[in-house]
This record gives sequence, C-alpha cells and structure tokens, in this order.
Amino acid sequence: MGIKKIGLVTAGGDCPGLNAAIRAVVKTAMSTYNAQVIGFLDGLRGVVINSFVDMGNDRVSNIIARGGTILGSSNRDNPFAFYYDDNQKDPLDVSDVAVRHYELNHLDALVCIGGDGTLTMASQLAKKGLNIVGIPKTIDNDVQGTDQTIGFDSAVVTATEAIDKIRTTAESHHRGMVIELMGRTAGWPALFAGIASGSDVILLPEIPFDMAKICEHVLDRRKSGKRFTIICVAEGARPKNQEVITIADRDKRTGMVRLGGIGNYIAKELEEKTGVVSRTTVLGHLQRGGSPTPYDRILATRSGVRAMQLVMEGVFGVTVCLKGSSIEHFSLEKVANNPRIVPLDSEYLTIAKSIGSFLGD
Ligand code: F6P
Repeated sequence: MGIKKIGLVTAGGDCPGLNAAIRAVVKTAMSTYNAQVIGFLDGLRGVVINSFVDMGNDRVSNIIARGGTILGSSNRDNPFAFYYDDNQKDPLDVSDVAVRHYELNHLDALVCIGGDGTLTMASQLAKKGLNIVGIPKTIDNDVQGTDQTIGFDSAVVTATEAIDKIRTTAESHHRGMVIELMGRTAGWPALFAGIASGSDVILLPEIPFDMAKICEHVLDRRKSGKRFTIICVAEGARPKNQEVITIADRDKRTGMVRLGGIGNYIAKELEEKTGVVSRTTVLGHLQRGGSPTPYDRILATRSGVRAMQLVMEGVFGVTVCLKGSSIEHFSLEKVANNPRIVPLDSEYLTIAKSIGSFLGD
C-alpha cells in the first residue's frame, strides 16, 4: 500500500504497558518497514489541536519498563463532543478538524491505543475515512473481542499485593477489611484480584449485593473460628435496589460520574450491623501506576508489532485482540459502545464460589 507515515496516539485512562506498546509500534515501523511515526500528545486532543512529536529510536529507548505514557493521555477529549477548555459551554463536533490534521500530516494510518471509550471514537473516525488500527488497553479489561487488555495483569498484581498486605493486619486485629478497586461497569479487576488474594467476599458491578447476607456471612465465619474477613469490592458494585455510589457530579466533558465510596458504605454497614470493627482501603489510581508486569510488556509488544503488520497489510477499521494465546484482530465497530462485562456464567465466578468466596447475592 506504500505506507510511509503513521500517527500514533494513547488515549483514555492510562495503565502500565502503554510505553511498551508505543515502543513496539515505533521500532517495528522504523526497522521492519522503514516508515515514519508521529506521536500525538495527550490523547485525541493532540489530533484535534495538531500537537505531536516525531518519534524515533531515541524517544522509545529505555521505556519498556516505564509506567504511564510518554505521549500523555486524556479521558476527557472526544473529537465528536469536544471542549477546547472548561469554560466552553457546549461541546463541538470537531471530528472534521481531526480528519484535516490527519490529511495535513500526510498520514497513511493512525494507530489508537485505547480502551472502550477511545476505541468507540476510533470506530467513528474510521467511518470518516481514516485508516485506523486499535490496540486495546485498560486496567478494567472490558474491551469487547479481546480476552485480555494491556494493563490488566499489572493492575491485578498491584491489587493482589495490596490485599495480601491488608490480610496480615486484618488477622492481627480480627477486623472486617474492605478493599475498593477500580472497575466501573466490569468487575474483572476485583474478580481476579479477589480470587488471587483469597478474598472472602468479592463484589462486582455485574452482581448487585445483599448487605444483610454479607453481614450473615461475616458472622458465620466468626462462629466457625475465622475472626477476620477480607471484602474485595469493585467501585461500580452496588447494593440491590440502589444506585452506584459516587463522589462527584457527572463530568460534562465525559458524561460520566466519578465513582467511589462503596467501600466505606460496606465497612460502615458491617460495623453497625454486626459489631465487627471494619476499615476500608481505596486502592484508586495506584492500580493504574507502576512498571508493567512481564506479561503486560509481552502483550503490549505483540500488540504493537501486530498493529504495524495490519497497517502494512492494509487491514483497517479493526483492533488487535488476544484470542486464547494468539494475537488476532476484531472489528472496531463491534467494540464501539459495547463494554465487555463479566458474564454471569463465567468460569471465574464458578471457581470463586467453589473455593468459598461469597459473591454477595
Ligand atoms: O481506566 C478506567 C478507569 O480506571 C475506571 O476503572 C475508573 O472509574 C476511571 O478510570 C477513573 O478515571 P479518572 O482517572 O478520570 O479518575
């Protein structure tokens, strides 16, 4: 296809492994295909305002182990509903401006490294004629079509290590310990870290919980001699017949509420209803930070190399994906507006129950 110049962008909430993916795209483009790469800054905002840097070996050298993204990111900038600043009253559709910058820079393709939201926007940009290949990343692991996203493994390791540490103090003080993890609509991080840490109760957005049953479970454990309980809860989990708990109003730029507070709600209820002294730890953005695990570095490298192969093969409007143990591709259109939640017949739910974790329902 005569691909000579490629744009690259990282958008949405950051996660460990983004730099490894950037490195793989740039190195493969330059050394295997003799193509040039420019990196847009701060997510899709960079495409709208045409802010970018030329990528070369010097920029991607020594970054495989670094968390975050050297290009910057944003989860508040959508070219189809864009705010130039926070004073702007209404959003503007500036997607044509993004298309113009793609053309002005003589790009032959744009590689978008993003989660569910970014890949939805990428799918819309692809419909406007841009040659797009996506790479799925997010600690939430909720991108349709892929078995695992870049960043998920690192976040699960961080959360599991944190819960392991909380377990020792829980045991000393015979307490109820609630650990709140990220995960808005999908409970993958809480489910995996919950299983890996042997959490006694695991609560997910997919399964509204019954507080009375959780209290009963904690008291039953006490009767059987287990004087502490570890409760691993996703921020998007909610009690039956109640809304999710939020800490800030809807952000006009993202249309999303800021979740948070479910951990404190559970600890308070537990202590009031059972008398078991309870504490909460909110892991928050800790889960998005730090060095990627070797697994994520390898997944990111495989994804970046495959993305460049797809670009060179002229396969666009797709995202790279992991299917079993192989790297394949999947339609961007099917990813759009379609987060991958934990199915109620998931094997992971079955194994959690089999080993005695209570899922709150
Ligand atoms: O990246 C996804 C996510 O981690 C969600 O689980 C969480 O609700 C959100 O990001 C938090 O985003 P922010 O960085 O804007 O607080």
